[in-house]
Amino acid sequence: MHVAVFGANGRTGRLIVAELARRGHAPLAITRRPVEVAGAVGHRVLDLADSAAVRAAAGSAAISALASSRGNRACSALAQALGPCAGLRLVTVAGAAVDAPGDRKPWPERRFGPMLARLVGEMILDRQREFAILTLAEAQWTMLRPPRLTNGGATRRPELSFDRPVSSRIARADLAVAAVDALFDEGLVRRAPFVAEARAGRRRSGAANADKALAPTGRSR
Ligand SMILES: NC(=O)c1ccc[n+]([C@@H]2O[C@H](COP(=O)([O-])OP(=O)(O)OC[C@H]3O[C@@H](n4cnc5c(N)ncnc54)[C@H](OP(=O)(O)O)[C@@H]3O)[C@@H](O)[C@H]2O)c1
Repeated sequence: MHVAVFGANGRTGRLIVAELARRGHAPLAITRRPVEVAGAVGHRVLDLADSAAVRAAAGSAAISALASSRGNRACSALAQALGPCAGLRLVTVAGAAVDAPGDRKPWPERRFGPMLARLVGEMILDRQREFAILTLAEAQWTMLRPPRLTNGGATRRPELSFDRPVSSRIARADLAVAAVDALFDEGLVRRAPFVAEARAGRRRSGAANADKALAPTGRSR
């Protein structure tokens, strides 16, 4: 299957491309500058402000590992461009700092979250903006919300949850596994699960194993 990967040269993006290739898919690397991405079957250099080109490149399946930063609204720009694409399956990698209805984050996060937002505020604000755009989008989206990312080896046991992350970190390699899994998990459409390193003794989980007691986010699935 052809899958466009936005931010394909980033640390997680490269692992997503490799994971897609490992599973026999055909990843198309999308970047803003010409770079080599191992495992990609094609490459496109795009400006996210060019919505028509972004939509054409996304096709029917896309994963975003873009990061926003000060003065850089990459994540909300992509959501804005791809939101109207009804036939698109889209998975975006965001962060646990994004708030969604139904969250029951533990008290340190509730307490330190606003402090974090002041420090890296624009980045989190842009992810929150992205989430708001997606909840109204036609595209079949899933937003993954990982906590702290590490460069450790893959456990291949990322665990999804809907009210709070099950642990405080996840390896980028496991996040890549979860992003590709999510692309093919119908149960995650229009939902924004947390994804974190699994607790000891727990099996890797998709929507089927996740807490279904909580209402899905956004419009009906
Ligand atoms: N670090 C953490 O602990 C943490 C925790 C939770 C969630 N996250 C989120 O997880 C995601 C992946 O993180 P990461 O550390 O793997 O990311 P990363 O290595 O920083 O890669 C970010 C990617 O976004 C691209 N990008 C940024 N602005 C762009 C723009 N305006 N147009 C096109 N491309 C743009 C970068 O391209 P260039 O190489 O050209 O700049 C790069 O490919 C990010 O969304 C991050 O915010 C991170």
